[in-house]
Amino acid sequence: MVFLGGCDLNTKMSTFDTKGPIAETQLDLFMLTVWVTTFIFIVVGGVFVVAIVKFRERPNDDRPMPSQGHGNPLVEIGLIGASVLLLVIIAVPTLQAIWYTHDTPTDEHSKLGNWYPGDDLAEGSEDEVLVIRVIGYQWWWEFEYPQLGISTANEMVIPAGKAVHLELRSVDVIHSFWLPRIAGKVDLIPGRANAMWIQAGDNIEAWTEKNGAKGSELELQAAYNKYLEEEIHDYYYGQCAEYCGDSHARMLFRATVVGDDDFAAWVDSERVGHTAPDGMAWDEWYKIYDSKPESLTGDLNEGAKVFMGRGKCIACHSVEGNPRALGVAGPNLTNVGERLSIAAGWLNHHTEEDVLIEEEQYANFVKWIKETDVVKPGNLMWKANGNGIGELTDPDNPEQLKLLTDEEIHYLARYLQSLK
Ligand code: CUA
Repeated sequence: MVFLGGCDLNTKMSTFDTKGPIAETQLDLFMLTVWVTTFIFIVVGGVFVVAIVKFRERPNDDRPMPSQGHGNPLVEIGLIGASVLLLVIIAVPTLQAIWYTHDTPTDEHSKLGNWYPGDDLAEGSEDEVLVIRVIGYQWWWEFEYPQLGISTANEMVIPAGKAVHLELRSVDVIHSFWLPRIAGKVDLIPGRANAMWIQAGDNIEAWTEKNGAKGSELELQAAYNKYLEEEIHDYYYGQCAEYCGDSHARMLFRATVVGDDDFAAWVDSERVGHTAPDGMAWDEWYKIYDSKPESLTGDLNEGAKVFMGRGKCIACHSVEGNPRALGVAGPNLTNVGERLSIAAGWLNHHTEEDVLIEEEQYANFVKWIKETDVVKPGNLMWKANGNGIGELTDPDNPEQLKLLTDEEIHYLARYLQSLK
């Protein structure tokens, strides 16, 4: 009872609190299996208990041996028949669910051309559903949107009520994509592309049918939009569900489910990226940086300098807009200042209502840069820089490091916060 007290069906990663057709199908299948196996448990357990109580030997028991039913054709065939029947009851919906969750639907509501308000789709993608390429790394997630030409990390953004096709790949070891309240799980396997589809919330037809909603088309649409806003728009928690090395438990991800307009606005801001500090154009900024870097002052300029220089951040990270930040080994940092978590969901800085807390964000950036190896043991950012972030002072002596100072880390954290 004490252990059961820790159970809660209504948590951020509960598979019982479903928000979408895939998770719902999986939950239905789970409950069916639970009922069938409960039935088996009760029947078999019941017969077992009756047999023990009724036929157990008592003191001075002189009853004869009860009649033995072994080999009785009726019992044997009956048991085989019952087992087969129960397995069929589980197997048919299981196969249906496997097919349903495997084939990405191509319903009209989900086709990009029918809901995406932007006018800059890749050619030919109007009739496709949104595709996201999910790439697993030790220990973070890349989310690429090939039709939209953008890429983000650890916090994916998806439209509510639309089917989204996921292409799952890995660059190193096997990971597993699991977004409990929406869908899960499918493995990301090196050397092959797996696929699945997800959908946050029902589409309007399924929703109308389920709720028996009636009214004119406009009324229905308004009620449906209200449902999406109130029940589906949210910040969902996901997790790598396949052991993948030191920091597997710290390989989390998030999904922000938004309306169509917010989605398009997000895509635009990902595309545009950021200017140099103080709204300066990058060309201009780099001209000064290359000739007289000491004349670039203030927290953000100092931070940008560390980002390009001593921190070597641009070797692995890209930031849209910045022509020199083109690294691909690490997460894309465009709009990283907007994310409610960093370090693949491990360091969070938001309230219960998912509002960003800037001071916590600052502290998280500092912690992440300064103690990368503590936050996420074994991670590449630490190892690639020779057990620390900063430059080697003596290339012949790798032990001798010139790590970023606390002041530099402060500037860098402020600069990263400004990327939004
Ligand atoms: Cu990736 Cu566990």
